[in-house]
Amino acid sequence: MTRVFSGIQPSGEMHIGNWLGAIRNWVALQDSHEAIYCIVDQHAITGQYDVGSLADRTREMAISLVAAGLDPSRSVLFVQSHVPDHATLAWLLTTIAPLGELERMTQYKDKSQRVESIPAGLLCYPILMAADILLYRADAVPVGEDQTQHLELTRELARRWNATFGAADTPFFPEPQPILTGARRIIGLDGQAKMSKSLGNTIGVTESPEEIWQKLRPAMTDPARQKRTDPGTPEICNIYALHRHFSPEATVAEVATNCRTAAWGCIDCKKVLAANMATTLAPIRERSLELRAAPGEVQAMLGDGAATARRLAGETMREVTDRMGFLREG
Ligand code: TYM
Repeated sequence: MTRVFSGIQPSGEMHIGNWLGAIRNWVALQDSHEAIYCIVDQHAITGQYDVGSLADRTREMAISLVAAGLDPSRSVLFVQSHVPDHATLAWLLTTIAPLGELERMTQYKDKSQRVESIPAGLLCYPILMAADILLYRADAVPVGEDQTQHLELTRELARRWNATFGAADTPFFPEPQPILTGARRIIGLDGQAKMSKSLGNTIGVTESPEEIWQKLRPAMTDPARQKRTDPGTPEICNIYALHRHFSPEATVAEVATNCRTAAWGCIDCKKVLAANMATTLAPIRERSLELRAAPGEVQAMLGDGAATARRLAGETMREVTDRMGFLREG
């Protein structure tokens, strides 16, 4: 069976961009693939972060993932820092990673502009990500579009390592391919930038119907609709884009017509979206409330997941360290 691996940072709550762009696929792939999923807490410390809440955010992310449909009996779910081999393999890959390519990563260029002194961890972030994936020799990685450049680098590192240390005929590391959904880049409530925890333009998957409404009400729409009677162009409106992910087809068609003819104002349109979004997300919200009431359950799942991941990672590392020529212990 083909193996998939993916990760999510516990840098805040899971938002609808994560869910539509990646997590829905994580859930679907559990049935057809050997699936390994990781909460990447070591990636979440590459910028300034709140030390006091990291553990809670990690637990909360695990709750959201299970609530969204990850089932530990059909996939492996664990926390990155519980499997020390991620950091070890990252170091080994750092020794063959091309500096120029790291500096060309879009995410690095964006993030390094926003800080005064650039931590090396920000530059090496994609090497740790490559280590996550290669440690399990995954064939494919369900992600949103923003991660495809990092995956290109992962493939490059796999090729370099195979060429240097692998047996030439059978490459040790597969070159992992991305698996994208039909919602590869969800725009945030500002109607401009990618929906992102760090930009505060998100809606969380476990938010209440009232919270969803409070966030959608001021969200950006087609700027041409200054007055209630101004007709709009649905194709340029992010609210319409979200309808396509949360509303039935007939409603999407109705939204388009009523926007073009100004039969509905933006608020009418948003009310329908808020209701459909709340209905779609209700099962995740309900399950997360149950799981939060029994925190031991998720903690135990993570313990089992880490044990399995450590075993799988150990198998890869034995082969990697042998091929790289290290002395075996004992
Ligand atoms: P992260 O934590 O930012 O996001 C988790 C997943 O959600 C996707 N995503 C989106 N998809 C569509 N529209 C959006 N607005 C949107 N925002 C986020 C991301 O593409 C991602 O799939 N570097 C990764 C974490 C990581 C990883 C890995 C992923 C670490 N190691 C190994 C895959 C494999 C990240 O920061 O994702």
